[in-house]
Amino acid sequence: MTVRPATEADLEAILDIEGRWLTTPHWNRTQFASELAGSRPRFLAAEEDGRVVGYAVCWIVAGEAELLNLAVHPERARGGLGRGLLAAAMRAAEEADCSKMTLEVSARNAPAVRLYESAGFRVVGRRAKYYNDGADALLMDARLNPRPHP
Ligand SMILES: CC(C)(COP(=O)(O)OP(=O)(O)OC[C@H]1O[C@@H](n2cnc3c(N)ncnc32)[C@H](O)[C@@H]1OP(=O)(O)O)[C@@H](O)C(=O)NCCC(=O)NCCS
Repeated sequence: MTVRPATEADLEAILDIEGRWLTTPHWNRTQFASELAGSRPRFLAAEEDGRVVGYAVCWIVAGEAELLNLAVHPERARGGLGRGLLAAAMRAAEEADCSKMTLEVSARNAPAVRLYESAGFRVVGRRAKYYNDGADALLMDARLNPRPHP
């Protein structure tokens, strides 16, 4: 797997992956396109054999990063891609001098919560019945080690 900045050419593959999961609210084309066009986000695509197999979107603002979206192709799930993408997003945030990454995840999304916990995130808050299916949102954060590019 290689992780690189996403481009507009990746949009169809990203929308395809996004639509395959029922565990998370779906982003639409406009949302992904505006993240691609914006200056604040770090939008990463994971590629294998020339095919986009996952992506991560985070915002980097004032020394803090927020992970907004992370998904892998379901056919490639449980192969370490999610962990690799998350690590790449955390590295990118550290290189942008961030000392913390935050995120929000459904309390019912056990695979994601486990992934985040194993990457050093801890639960710091909870929003009751935040999602349409009635699930609580967990607010999680992880400390980063800022190491700006020279
Ligand atoms: C969450 C997600 C990104 C994980 O990606 P992945 O490539 O399957 O995960 P990895 O293979 O890197 O697994 C890393 C860890 O995540 C956890 N994990 C992943 N899938 C899991 C599952 N189905 N059940 C339990 N734990 C799981 C495990 O702790 C795993 O470590 P282990 O393999 O040593 O047990 C993937 O399930 C996904 O795209 N889900 C839909 C989108 C989503 O929910 N995104 C997160 C919220 S924004």
